[in-house]
Amino acid sequence: MNRGKFITIDGVEGAGKSTQIDLVCEHLIEKGIKVVRTREPGGTEVGEKIRSVLLDVENQEMHSDTELLLMFSSRNELIQNKIIPALEEGCWVVSDRFTDASFAYQGGGRMLNLERISKLADWVLGDFKPDLTFLLDVTVEVGMQRIETRAAKDRIELEERAFFERVRSVFIQRSEAFPERIKLIDATASVNDIQSKIRVLIDSL
Ligand SMILES: Nc1ncnc2c1ncn2[C@@H]1O[C@H](COP(=O)(O)OP(=O)(O)O)[C@@H](O)[C@H]1O
Ligand SMILES: [Mg+2]
Repeated sequence: MNRGKFITIDGVEGAGKSTQIDLVCEHLIEKGIKVVRTREPGGTEVGEKIRSVLLDVENQEMHSDTELLLMFSSRNELIQNKIIPALEEGCWVVSDRFTDASFAYQGGGRMLNLERISKLADWVLGDFKPDLTFLLDVTVEVGMQRIETRAAKDRIELEERAFFERVRSVFIQRSEAFPERIKLIDATASVNDIQSKIRVLIDSL
């Protein structure tokens, strides 16, 4: 059996990740591909518990390194217990956020040293990486406007605007550093136009 492909979608809140992932999964299912959809942090039983610690607004005192380590703990659980087994069964896996988000949020947002994050990524992932990553890029302002009507913000969403500007800029830097894997998509376009671009690239896999 052919190993499945691993696709990740990233970007700031409100970029349109969930919207596009719905359509990506529909597209793959129409093609007769088995799909496992997941998200970070979380996606496993243990990972969802870690997620609730990470996003709990009561945990304001959490040290940035602790946040980083919890993100990678959740990721390890997801890779070992969900993503790799699914790929080996021939399923395609689509994840809402992945390692690029740790560089963007903990590296950019929290200003942790990117080299240290790379070391941790090597430790947890080794050579494992997505086959394709879509970076949905919108300005922080547009992203924030789109999620204005959402219910209460989580611990990370409560950060100030400059935090998200740094997040966006590290995402963009990574798409420039890894252009083969990370495809930057202008996510201010219409839902359908964005999805068309995504489908062309997915079909090339
Ligand atoms: N291309 C788009 N243009 C305008 N609005 C969009 C677009 N994509 C998504 N939205 C809307 O923006 C909001 C946030 O989208 P969502 O997919 O939940 O983003 P994310 O998962 O990245 O936070 C939703 O209300 C959604 O309907
Ligand atoms: Mg979402």
